[in-house]
Amino acid sequence: MKYKILKIEAKNPSKALTPLMPHRQKGQPSALWYPFTQMQEWEQGAPTVIVEGRGSYFTDQTGKRYLDGTSSLWVNLHGHRKKAIDDAIIKEMRKMSHSTLLGLSHPLAITLAEQLIRIAPPGLTKVFYSDNGSTAVEVAIKMAFAFWQHQGQKEKRQFMSFSNAYHGDTLGSVSVGGIDLFHSLYKPLLFKNIPVQAPYCYRCPWGKTYPSCQMVCVDAVERVMKRRHRRIAGLVIEPLVQAAAGICVAPPGYLKRIRELCTKYNILMIADEVATGFGRTGKMFACEHEGVSPDLMAVAKGITGGYLPLAATLTTQKIYDAFLGSYDTFKTFFHGHSYTGNRLGCAAALASLSVFREEGVLEKLQPKVAFLTKYLAGSKGNRHIGDIRQVGFMVGIELVRDEGEPYPLSERVGAAVCMEAKAHGVWLRPLGNVIVLMPPLSISMRDLKKLTDTVFRAIETVTMLASPQSSV
Ligand SMILES: Cc1ncc(COP(=O)(O)O)c(C=O)c1O
Repeated sequence: MKYKILKIEAKNPSKALTPLMPHRQKGQPSALWYPFTQMQEWEQGAPTVIVEGRGSYFTDQTGKRYLDGTSSLWVNLHGHRKKAIDDAIIKEMRKMSHSTLLGLSHPLAITLAEQLIRIAPPGLTKVFYSDNGSTAVEVAIKMAFAFWQHQGQKEKRQFMSFSNAYHGDTLGSVSVGGIDLFHSLYKPLLFKNIPVQAPYCYRCPWGKTYPSCQMVCVDAVERVMKRRHRRIAGLVIEPLVQAAAGICVAPPGYLKRIRELCTKYNILMIADEVATGFGRTGKMFACEHEGVSPDLMAVAKGITGGYLPLAATLTTQKIYDAFLGSYDTFKTFFHGHSYTGNRLGCAAALASLSVFREEGVLEKLQPKVAFLTKYLAGSKGNRHIGDIRQVGFMVGIELVRDEGEPYPLSERVGAAVCMEAKAHGVWLRPLGNVIVLMPPLSISMRDLKKLTDTVFRAIETVTMLASPQSSV
């Protein structure tokens, strides 16, 4: 029944959504243009307006509470209103909220850089700040490009990137992205990259199965490198998990092989840890799972525990050194933003790293990851669940109509499941037909169970109504 209601919404959104808009006068359009949102539908209806949050929950304007099943778009780690982070921000705010890093410095930016280096994969020794994941990737691309220019290898100016990759929305990060739905319109504005096929074991582009495939997906990457490495500056990769693609998990060993190939062909490896960083995969960084050290690493999202926009690009001494010289060599990295290394963001990030250390966040996470793994393994009975992918606290459940046939995106089955879960107090945001679970690392075992139970019940309900004749 709920699924039918959603179909009515799609055709006539005003009928279905109007009651949710108590704060807006009838006929008065909102001034706000929302990200990744079809505004024609929202113009008729109403958003759920969040007024406060605590722990793993937040509350809307009607007083209804929701479990934050996607960590407020993959950023929150220790819950909302975490005292240690609140206090750290307030303490810094009482001194000063912002001072520039262009020509000045501040203690928090210095200390945070040192701490990031301490927890990062070995070999990364320098930190350059920005303020979101897209800019952190953008910085990495520019650094890699400039590195080869400064080294005198001027022909090395192209980037390899993967199908279905998502690295953000600025034009540089879109240039190395691969999600056509988001990116194809902007092609005339983008720099040319060298796309390679990403692994996607559930629908293997080579029609093979792991491990008997012997990772032909890596061979495909090597073939391109072998032919074109003299012109390739860097390869941009989401380590282990292509998040926005639908939590697509690379086969074990893939990341390590890519690292080896980058070294062999003298190509800089840029790891985009924006989604995977800060414990999301069960380790501090995804690269750690395969003992990989990239040449550049972009981090954002969880860096502040989900509090404030801060990001960083970490790199090696060798890359840093290539930018050194007297001023008139003009090797300066001419890049920076008004809020680069913002003090409040750095205060939040330092407090979040203290929480990791003092509360043993990664240790406490392991039994919750194990619970999820066990739960998910026991949930494969529904024929509309095509694939369940998990790395740590990143889970993607791919829904299919029957025998692996994808639901047409226009049916919005993923959105319907999330609406159903929302009705039961769990907030999720799908990626097409993939239901994403990415709760705060601090979620209690009880709430984790509530999250999984609610989601699988919602999947049952919606898929049964979407194709009743073929349900379990
Ligand atoms: C892997 C990855 N890189 C970059 C980004 C862009 O980050 P932001 O939205 O902070 O610009 C995202 C966002 O989801 C991401 O998942």
